[in-house]
Amino acid sequence: MSETSPSEQPPRSPYEILGDQGIKDLVAAFYDVMDTNPEAAEIRAMHAEDLSPVRSKLTAYLVGWMGGPPVYQAIAGTVCLTDPHAPFHIGPRQRDQWLMCMDEALERIGASEELKTMLKLPMQHVAETVQNQETSDPAPRDPNIIAASRS
Ligand code: HEM
Repeated sequence: MSETSPSEQPPRSPYEILGDQGIKDLVAAFYDVMDTNPEAAEIRAMHAEDLSPVRSKLTAYLVGWMGGPPVYQAIAGTVCLTDPHAPFHIGPRQRDQWLMCMDEALERIGASEELKTMLKLPMQHVAETVQNQETSDPAPRDPNIIAASRS
């Protein structure tokens, strides 16, 4: 005989918890933080002046990633984020700025502890996948070293 407790309810996906509007609100809060928090100034500077296009794209991406319909895949033909991030130097510091914006956005929309816990590790993993450099600062280019290595 088994007892029924809330923990035995079928798990809900983040998409079921937030819905389309909740994800839209989360992304709006995310780019508001990026746009205004000086600690995110470095990654803000990588983005276009007008954040509307990337707001729509991240919303579409997160809808699918959180368990909803694959709307980003339908538009972009892939869910691989390597190519769109390739032009940017994304090391540990830039990754952590991005995650800080997401943490702050989750606070701003009043996300439950359950949702924050559910997202924490998967968000870190996807940010690590997007990270494309081991160091936070681009290596200085010394023209003499480059010239010497060619001779
Ligand atoms: C790790 C730190 C990250 C940095 C510094 C970063 C930075 C950027 C930048 C500069 C752009 C281009 C924006 C523009 O054109 O104005 C971009 C696009 C985008 N980013 Fe990130 N990003 C990061 C992580 C992530 C993560 C973790 C996700 C998903 C959960 C994500 C999803 C996207 C999407 C969907 C786009 C639009 C791609 C497209 O053009 O189709 N990014 N990001």
